Amino acid sequence: IAAAAVAAHAQDFPGGKPVTIVVPFAAGGPTDRVARDLAEALRKPLGGASVIIDNVPGAGSSIGAAKVARATPDGYTLLLNHIAMATVPSLVRNVPFKVETDFEYLGIVNDVPMTLISKPGIPASNYKELSGWIAANKGKINIGNAGVGSASHLCGLLYQSATKTEMTPVPYKGTAPAITDLIGGQIDLLCDQTTNTTPHIQAGKVKAFAVTTSKRLALPTLKDLPTLDEAGLKNFQVTIWHGLYAPKGTPAPVLKKLNDAVKVALKDPDFIHREELLGAVVATDGRIEPAGHKKFVIDEIAKWTPVIKAAGVYAD
Ligand code: MLT
Repeated sequence: IAAAAVAAHAQDFPGGKPVTIVVPFAAGGPTDRVARDLAEALRKPLGGASVIIDNVPGAGSSIGAAKVARATPDGYTLLLNHIAMATVPSLVRNVPFKVETDFEYLGIVNDVPMTLISKPGIPASNYKELSGWIAANKGKINIGNAGVGSASHLCGLLYQSATKTEMTPVPYKGTAPAITDLIGGQIDLLCDQTTNTTPHIQAGKVKAFAVTTSKRLALPTLKDLPTLDEAGLKNFQVTIWHGLYAPKGTPAPVLKKLNDAVKVALKDPDFIHREELLGAVVATDGRIEPAGHKKFVIDEIAKWTPVIKAAGVYAD
């Protein structure tokens, strides 16, 4: 009977009930941006269901991720998270879940570059001058992030390790509040995703110095920014990927419906356009398949764990 009930439930999933996507960072930030754009694109393929966002910030995304790992596995509570799924276990102590076993994988959504930006008014107008300013202000510079374990924290750590500089970290519940303080001059630097920084760079509210991708970006606002690799930090490459997850044990027919809806959403021209305007690249490869998504995350854990250990910031 149980199997038949599960199959019936899956048949009409979501059956008019709202689907919640937990975003493990503050509203208005880059993760929230991707989640809201994706929620919009999921409505139709989920039969007109309402897809709502629940911001649950904290501990580098592990508070929100833990909430989903513990949620009823019925398909109505999902998680949208980024590279932190692969790095938080190395950066945050006692994370109360195992990424490899406590989630079902519903597909990678996009890849997002990061930009190294500063508050307005610093006496530097290119990466070389920024490096000079940092060297001249040794021990006095602070850098924002979205908490230990966040993507902005990871990028900041790698940047300081690669440049042998030390900056004071200033944590926020997300990079939306962080960039507000950067614009206000309360903090000096931030490494953050283009999905958040592009509009502020375009508006001239912050100064942009480099991108963390292997190639320069096509966006008109960002095309003149050198890659950090070009600027001298050899092999400095951090691209933030976002994926959708359900709690382990969600019935297979429900997972299939959700993954099918993700595939439709990723082909939605409006979704793709919105993402492109913000420098993000919507996923089109095998990572949109559950197995491909899971393999990618496991490979990313293997890739970043030694890097984080080498940077001397492993939360063992
Ligand atoms: C991060 O820095 O990890 C997140 O992108 C921050 C956010 O989404 O607010």
